[in-house]
Amino acid sequence: MSTEKKVAIITGGASGIGFAFTRSLIEAGYAVVIADMAGADKAAATLKNEGFDVIGVEADVTSVDDTKKMVAAAVETFGGLDLLVNNAGIFTSLKLKPFDQIEPSEWMKVMEVNTLGPFLCAKAALPELRKSSAGRIINIASTSQMKGAPFMLHYTASKGAVISFTRSLARELGADNITVNAIAPGFTLSDGVLATGMEEVMGDVVRKTSRSIPRDQVPDDLTGALLFLASDGAAFITGQTIAVDGGSYFL
Ligand SMILES: NC(=O)c1ccc[n+]([C@@H]2O[C@H](COP(=O)([O-])OP(=O)(O)OC[C@H]3O[C@@H](n4cnc5c(N)ncnc54)[C@H](O)[C@@H]3O)[C@@H](O)[C@H]2O)c1
Repeated sequence: MSTEKKVAIITGGASGIGFAFTRSLIEAGYAVVIADMAGADKAAATLKNEGFDVIGVEADVTSVDDTKKMVAAAVETFGGLDLLVNNAGIFTSLKLKPFDQIEPSEWMKVMEVNTLGPFLCAKAALPELRKSSAGRIINIASTSQMKGAPFMLHYTASKGAVISFTRSLARELGADNITVNAIAPGFTLSDGVLATGMEEVMGDVVRKTSRSIPRDQVPDDLTGALLFLASDGAAFITGQTIAVDGGSYFL
């Protein structure tokens, strides 16, 4: 099947911030592939029942085969690919700890999902994005990387890499009419954050001492930046990172 709609893949799109991205894009008229290692089919079924063009693909972003599979599914079902959102990441399952207590295996796992993952997804998506009239890659970073945040050195280092990756890939793909940008969320009450009790540890500090707008950040706060970067109006913006954090960090 082919569609006149623009087509997006959202990694980690079955829950949390990724699900808010999924909903905002389908409501904006995109056909969407939810690529997630857990819950992709279930999330897609819910939205399909509401009449949207969406499919779920069980995919681990650290697997070359799975990243190829998610792109093949986009082409097979919707006829191509215009937008890749690299959202899947390890964050909410991490235990805060001093850096000298982080095991090398844990460091490697975070790097694998948060940096190898976007690289493999971009590689798999590139041939189809080149065929699009306006290809887009949007990577999800974090303002923790910009401010420096203690007790999650592997995570902040991985998100620093995401921003470097964004800038350099923008340089490589500009001539293909593909823009590459990043969104850096502040501490956001996603499903994962709410499930792990992180909010109790960090919520008050962030709200009261860090933000210009002293309220909780929720996944829907991030969708405006996503839709803007995906839009035709952002065709000449590339290599940039937009911080969406209630005015906590100023670029
Ligand atoms: N929540 C925050 O405060 C916050 C702040 C800054 C940045 N971020 C970033 O935003 C993104 C989403 O965060 P969230 O809070 O919604 O997380 P979450 O834990 O609520 O959801 C993450 C989603 O990614 C999926 N996923 C994890 N590993 C995967 C893999 N290897 N392959 C495919 N899917 C995988 C999970 O199944 C889940 O659906 C992450 O990149 C995170 O680092 C989150």
